[in-house]
Amino acid sequence: MASRYPFPASPNGWFGIGACEDLAVGDVQAVRYLGRDLALFRGGDGTARVFDAHCPHFGAHLGVGGRVCGDGIACPFHGWRFDGDGALVEVPGLDRPPRAGAKAWQVCECNGRIFVWHHADDVPPSFDVIGYRQDESAWTPWRSNSYRVRVHVQDLTENIIDRSHFSTVHDMKPPVLEHFEVRFSGTSMVVDQRLSVTAVSEVGFEVSTTTTTCGPGIVAVEVSQDPIEMLTYITQTPIDDELTEVTLCFSMKRLEDEAATESISELNDKVTNLQFSQDVPIWENKIYRERPIITKVDGPVAQYRRWFRQFYSNGNELLES
Ligand code: FES
Ligand SMILES: [Fe+2]
Repeated sequence: MASRYPFPASPNGWFGIGACEDLAVGDVQAVRYLGRDLALFRGGDGTARVFDAHCPHFGAHLGVGGRVCGDGIACPFHGWRFDGDGALVEVPGLDRPPRAGAKAWQVCECNGRIFVWHHADDVPPSFDVIGYRQDESAWTPWRSNSYRVRVHVQDLTENIIDRSHFSTVHDMKPPVLEHFEVRFSGTSMVVDQRLSVTAVSEVGFEVSTTTTTCGPGIVAVEVSQDPIEMLTYITQTPIDDELTEVTLCFSMKRLEDEAATESISELNDKVTNLQFSQDVPIWENKIYRERPIITKVDGPVAQYRRWFRQFYSNGNELLES
């Protein structure tokens, strides 16, 4: 990635690393995100935790064979035991363990996903993950699909405001009532627009959508078209210098007609995943132009890039370059 993009692979922010429902109490998983090997587990107290993978003793991977012990985890190699904060609390055969620990990442669970806070300078979280579907029982269970794509997260979400590719890549006709408004507000970018979706039918149908980003790792697309309320919730997480994992989750407010709810969900799922796959070959093969030729039919790309710089520790230097 270093050769492809003039900024760090992992910006600062909350990043999704899995679904809450896939991690039961006592489960331990080895995962790799943000260029780091991590151990993800759910402690006896029901809290999801993420530690740096490699044990401070001889370097075994805590996520491969580690066992949940109380709120923490025991290393599979020599049984060193860490508490829920990562502090070493027990060494088998020793009265008092040496002062050591595993780095515990800040974790939050929201919208059915598990997030970790990443900051290049270890600065604590400066914003929260925005919550959706407060009345969860009124919504359908999440349908989710994950992809691994060779693109930087910044390049990926530039897509949201890149309005001149909608017709070429996604075959979207301009809506009758044209509306496209972008606001940058702190760590969120909010895009209100009318979209005419023709991906699945020649006629197309028009919808009003609000897209809200939450830092560099989360995008929520809300469609409100009485009586339909739909939410596409997307997390994009750098895996390493090359790849980003993108998870598209979909849920809608249940209609009285269950069959209609099901068929609309299915159709939307199809459209979302189709549209996503249309972007992939462009993303994976493009280069990053620092000074693209921006015309008035393009979206506010320059503003977007300036806004995104807040998520890099060296953002001001990038600004000057
Ligand atoms: S490597 Fe973990 S206890 Fe020895
Ligand atoms: Fe796109």
